[in-house]
Amino acid sequence: MIGIFDSGYGGLTILNQIRKTLPEYDYLYLGDNARAPYGTRSFDVIYEYTLQAVNYLHEQGCNLIILACNTASAKALRTIQQRDINPDEVRVLGVIRPTVEVVPARTRTKHIGVLATPGTVASESYVIELLKQDPTLVVTQQACPMWVPLIESGEHLNAGADYFVEKYLTELLTRDPLIDTIILGCTHYPLLQDKIEDFLKRTNRQISVIAQGAIVANSLQDYLLRHPDIAERAKMGGKQTITYLTTESATKFAESASIFLSTPITANHIEL
Ligand code: DGL
Repeated sequence: MIGIFDSGYGGLTILNQIRKTLPEYDYLYLGDNARAPYGTRSFDVIYEYTLQAVNYLHEQGCNLIILACNTASAKALRTIQQRDINPDEVRVLGVIRPTVEVVPARTRTKHIGVLATPGTVASESYVIELLKQDPTLVVTQQACPMWVPLIESGEHLNAGADYFVEKYLTELLTRDPLIDTIILGCTHYPLLQDKIEDFLKRTNRQISVIAQGAIVANSLQDYLLRHPDIAERAKMGGKQTITYLTTESATKFAESASIFLSTPITANHIEL
């Protein structure tokens, strides 16, 4: 079974694409909604919460876990991989590396904007990883601290959200007007993608917006082809199910997730 973890609803944008690309697996989705957002929390807290989630998913039988959260990928992934897990039992993968790999082929100006949570921005993970891909890239980061709270509270499609979409995009593009590629470096942000693209259109800019779902799904498919033993174990006893777990109220999660996924789902409450 494959575990998909996010602080809240954002990882659903990744799960959605993964299950389309790899329908033959079972998935266990865990949203730590009761403690979201993670993006404004300290390094130690994000690490501790993420490790709890990884251990939980492993105990439930996941031998492969995707941190479908940039903040957790930036702040906790490496320590967990190096210190906390036995790779013979469970593998944990993040979402930042696969994302940066596609960027050099997509930019002409080589000026890249990264929209992310304050935690991901402070980690500098995107800057470091993008420059490893191409040291001539010019990377400008923009923290968007209001976006995840708007999405978690279901306010992201309302007119009030427009103010914060315009605010952060204007700040980013004022700091570097040559940006031609913007990475949505938080898995919640695709839920605002229509508003983001509308705003960019209104400013007459030719900017491509990179969302992570399909990129992560393709990268996972590739990983499973390269690791047939892990793929085999992840598929074992499979019934192609998707189970949703949340640390918040199961009813509240099911209601919001059904809207995000455009299909009715049920969820179970768990404690971490
Ligand atoms: N979806 C998480 C990410 O990709 C973010 C969230 C949060 O602040 O909780 O960074």
